[in-house]
Amino acid sequence: MMEDLAMQLFEILNNSIHAGASRIYLVIRDSIRDNEIVMTVEDNGRGMDAETLKRFSDPFYTTRTTRKIGMGVPFMKGLTEMCNGRFQAESTPGKGTRITASVQRDHIDTPEMGSLGELMMDCIQADEQIYYELTYQTDTQVFRFNTDQIKEQLQDVPISTPEVLLWIKGYIDENVQSVKEAIA
Ligand SMILES: Nc1ncnc2c1ncn2[C@@H]1O[C@H](COP(=O)(O)OP(=O)(O)O)[C@@H](O)[C@H]1O
Ligand SMILES: [Mg+2]
Repeated sequence: MMEDLAMQLFEILNNSIHAGASRIYLVIRDSIRDNEIVMTVEDNGRGMDAETLKRFSDPFYTTRTTRKIGMGVPFMKGLTEMCNGRFQAESTPGKGTRITASVQRDHIDTPEMGSLGELMMDCIQADEQIYYELTYQTDTQVFRFNTDQIKEQLQDVPISTPEVLLWIKGYIDENVQSVKEAIA
């Protein structure tokens, strides 16, 4: 697998950004006990009508092989199916969208998690006005991050300052790693 889960999640979060969301919540439950990784992205963007939502359930195929990073929702859906997981999209026009994608944790095709710090950094860079919240949890531990908390500490320094973004990336990756190791 060329892409890791974080890169694929960027596609999902990027859709939320483009849907005009002001709040985006990413929850990752990484469970050894249940042998699954469940990823949920929830936004308060413009949402989708039934027809747009239905396109997500088209069989997995892609012609967009030229894209550098992830390949949109159909790719994520195909990935979950390949990795014995499930994909679910719920949306209310004018209210928001929730995408849930899961994979079997020890499936041979399941990609690495990748850098959630980089993912958050990319999202903040894409739109720093948005409130982002990340929850990463295992069977025994949880790590939470949100951009309001950081903005409050920064006061007048923009969150998109390169030094700040790099700090955020490191902070998230370190904490996710230690939550992971706590159960190993
Ligand atoms: N979170 C979302 N909120 C509103 N619309 C969405 C969301 N995610 C996806 N969509 C709709 O579904 C379409 C397909 O998404 P995707 O497969 O990522 O392809 P692309 O983003 O390249 O159009 C988007 O163009 C958009 O209309
Ligand atoms: Mg997209």
